[in-house]
Amino acid sequence: MAQLIVALDFPEKEALLDTARALKGIVPWCKVGLEAFILSGPSIVAQLADMGFKVFLDLKLYDIPNTVSHAVAAGARNGVSIMTIHCQGGKKMCTAAMEAAEAASVNGERPYIFGVTALTSFGPCEMPGIASTPQDFALQLARSADGWGIDGVVCSGLEVKSIKMQTSLLALCPGIRPAGADKNDQARVCTPLQAVKSGADFLVVGRPITRAADPAGAAKAILEEMAG
Ligand code: C5P
Repeated sequence: MAQLIVALDFPEKEALLDTARALKGIVPWCKVGLEAFILSGPSIVAQLADMGFKVFLDLKLYDIPNTVSHAVAAGARNGVSIMTIHCQGGKKMCTAAMEAAEAASVNGERPYIFGVTALTSFGPCEMPGIASTPQDFALQLARSADGWGIDGVVCSGLEVKSIKMQTSLLALCPGIRPAGADKNDQARVCTPLQAVKSGADFLVVGRPITRAADPAGAAKAILEEMAG
């Protein structure tokens, strides 16, 4: 059964916490991204974990293996349950991240490491220096990363089916939009039901929930759609 993660992308900590309070007990996972992390600092992770959320820290790490390895270890110490890196960091970087996550294991629990393939905001011909389509590129990277030991990949719901068929990786899909919702800056979008039917393990939804007049109601509607 796929799990829902709400992306708490807010310019102010209080607005983020207000929405988290509204979603507490409804959505099990929340995502802290660059905006929230840079504004509020690592303490926001602990605050959300204390509220009962499992926290996905989405910093999309891309650096030399040593730096990424230490960043993953620091995230694990801070109570993070999922962290992201870029598959484009290559085998050594991805392996270093995974080793750090495994070394941080406590009572068999450790953060999952997901590698970003192609951002869901990329449309055709928009990836600098890359001739293949985002879908083809995402599949190609996922097939490579399948042998690097990471837990899963971040991809759009449009390519999740082929990735799940050709790899043994978990799939985490942003770019989720209920039918008729504004795409915003996303390009490769699909509905919650399409993503679940295609085999996604985690769905990341931000604005359709956080900018709704009733975030709890919007989250419940998405959870219902996911359940089929
Ligand atoms: O508001 P929206 O539903 O578009 O938010 C999607 C979230 O997923 C954002 O926090 C964004 O940073 C994240 N994300 C993404 N595409 C990726 C990886 C992460 O949209 N490839």
